[in-house]
Amino acid sequence: MGSQQGYAPVQPVAFSHALHAGEHKLDCRYCHFGAEKSRHAGVPPLEVCMNCHSQVKKDSPEVQKLASAFEAEQPIEWVKVHRLPDHAFFSHASHLSAQVKCQSCHGSVETMVRIEQVEPMTMGWCLECHRSMGKPPPEAPASAPPTDCSACHR
Ligand code: HEC
Ligand code: HEC
Ligand code: HEC
Ligand code: HEC
Ligand code: HEC
Repeated sequence: MGSQQGYAPVQPVAFSHALHAGEHKLDCRYCHFGAEKSRHAGVPPLEVCMNCHSQVKKDSPEVQKLASAFEAEQPIEWVKVHRLPDHAFFSHASHLSAQVKCQSCHGSVETMVRIEQVEPMTMGWCLECHRSMGKPPPEAPASAPPTDCSACHR
């Protein structure tokens, strides 16, 4: 598998986080609405895009790709960027309820024209944060991030 740090593949539609999350200040959770409730943040369905793009920039060829896929009821085949191996367990919901920011793990997404994996996302990287947040000896052990193997390898 190996680390995919720096991976920034060309996507089928030139969607820009810098434009939507940066310039237009759309909240990450408006599109990635799965993140708070489940393991996966997920990528938004076309319905979310068409809330605006049934009106906004209808003459743009990139937006027309959205409109015709929507009409044909075909999803956009976004290239997945971040991916852990199956033996590692990770959940967005528990990290977000512990107030960890998206940017701590994904970098300054709101400045990215094309999405990129900026952190190594290796076991050492996970543990580095877990250990630093567990120190000094936790007053409230229930909320200290786990460092035992079985927490992440179930
Ligand atoms: C208008 C909708 C929208 C908003 C707002 C948005 N995103 Fe996204 N995001 C997408 C889409 C569409 C993709 C898939 C296409 C791509 O990779 O550019 C994506 C992809 C991603 C990915 C990569 C997914 C993968 O394949 O690994 C990450 C990480 C991400 N977004 C984080 C964020 C963060 C953090 C914010 C807020 C700062 C944010 N997004 C705001 C629509 C959005
Ligand atoms: C809240 C409204 C809103 C939502 C939701 C939204 N967009 Fe946008 N989008 C905009 C605005 C505003 C622009 C900039 C238009 C301009 O340049 O005048 C834009 C621009 C774009 C462009 C560039 C068009 C061009 O040729 O300049 C693309 C591509 C795009 N959006 C894709 C998407 C995708 C894919 C989604 C869903 C994941 C999405 N947008 C969701 C408002 C939105
Ligand atoms: C503690 C680190 C961490 C935080 C915080 C975090 N992510 Fe992630 N994110 C990851 C990891 C690790 C993956 C790969 C997960 C996998 O392959 O199972 C990922 C994957 C994703 C993906 C790809 C689709 C998916 O769900 O696997 C998107 C989109 C995404 N994150 C968006 C966000 C957004 C938006 C936020 C904030 C609301 C956020 N992430 C907060 C670590 C994090
Ligand atoms: C905080 C979460 C976490 C904890 C705790 C953790 N791991 Fe991992 N581990 C991961 C992740 C994520 C990966 C996949 C990324 C990678 O290979 O670095 C991984 C990968 C591995 C691999 C595969 C390495 C390879 O080269 O393919 C082994 C073996 C492993 N862990 C063993 C352990 C053992 C033994 C422990 C306890 C001493 C442990 N892990 C604790 C998250 C964790
Ligand atoms: C920026 C800091 C940070 C990073 C990076 C991080 N975590 Fe965590 N993790 C936390 C915090 C904080 C908690 C929450 C402790 C609590 O309140 O329960 C947590 C909790 C967990 C839990 C226990 C809750 C649950 O969902 O079962 C697991 C498992 C876990 N993390 C796995 C991972 C893995 C795997 C990675 C790397 C891919 C990772 N974490 C990266 C901060 C981090």
